[in-house]
Amino acid sequence: MSRTILIIGIGAGNPEHITVQAINALNRADVLLVPTKGEEKAFLADMRRDICERYLTNPDTRIYNYAVPTRRNDGSYENGVHDWHHAIAKIYEDVILETSGDNDTIGLLVWGDPMLYDSTLRIVEHVRANGRIAFDLEVIPGITSIQALCASRRIALNRIGLPVEITTGRRLSEGWPEGTDDVVVMLDGVEAFRSVQDPDAEIHWGAYLGTELEITVSGRLGEVAEEISEIRKRARQENGWIMDTYLIRRTRKVGTEDGT
Ligand SMILES: C[S@@+](CC[C@H](N)C(=O)[O-])C[C@H]1O[C@@H](n2cnc3c(N)ncnc32)[C@H](O)[C@@H]1O
Repeated sequence: MSRTILIIGIGAGNPEHITVQAINALNRADVLLVPTKGEEKAFLADMRRDICERYLTNPDTRIYNYAVPTRRNDGSYENGVHDWHHAIAKIYEDVILETSGDNDTIGLLVWGDPMLYDSTLRIVEHVRANGRIAFDLEVIPGITSIQALCASRRIALNRIGLPVEITTGRRLSEGWPEGTDDVVVMLDGVEAFRSVQDPDAEIHWGAYLGTELEITVSGRLGEVAEEISEIRKRARQENGWIMDTYLIRRTRKVGTEDGT
C-alpha cells in the first residue's frame, strides 16, 4: 500500500495552458495541495484555485491550502535554500499525513513545468528520504513561461541550429555565458539585461505572461532597455510583485573571430 503523489504542471499564467493530462490528474487526486504566501503568491494561489474551479469535476477531491515559509536571507544562498527546502518537506509530510490515507492520491500544483527552476521534485525526494511516507511519484508536464513568452512574441526560441542557455538574472549580471549568443533569463531581481553591453542585441521581454496583466516589449536592447526598466518598476509598484522572463539574442559572436 502506498500513496501516489502527482506533481502537476499547470502552465505559467494562462488557465487555458493546461493539458488534458493535467486536468485528468487533478481529477484523480483525493487531495490537492495549494500553497499560499505573500502578494505574488496570493495571485498564484488564486490562479491555482481558478484552475481547480474550471477543471475539477470530481466532487470527492478535497483542496487543502497550506502556508509556505519564506526563505531566510541571512547566511549563504545555498544554505538558505537547503534549510527552506527541508522546512517545506516537513510541511508536505505533516499535511500529507493529516489530509490523506495510505492509498490516497495527492496532487501538487506546480507553476509552469516542474522541471524548470522549480524545487518541488527535490523537496518531494526529501520527503521520501525522511522515510515517514511511502509513495509512487508521477510528473505531469506543463507549459513553461518560456513557451508562453515565445508564443506571445510569435518567435522561435532558437536560431537555426544554435543553442540557447537558460539562466538567472543574478548569473547574467555576472557576465555573458560562454558558448552561446542566445540567453533566456528567469528569476531576475536585478534587471540583468541592463548589464549586457550590446545595444544591437535583440530582446523579447514578457511579464505576467498569460495573465490579464501581461505586458511584453521587443526590440533592440539599446532602444528598449530603459523602457522595459520603467515599465517593470511601475508594474511592480502597481501590483506589488512582478514575474518576468526574457530572451536576449546577441549579435553573433560565438564561432566567429571575435567570439569565444
Ligand atoms: C520559480 S520560477 C518557475 C518557473 C516555472 N516552473 C516555469 O515553468 O515557467 C519563477 C520564474 O519563472 C518566470 N515566470 C513564471 N511565470 C511567469 C509569467 N507568467 N510571466 C513571466 N515570467 C514568468 C519568471 O522568470 C519567474 O521569476
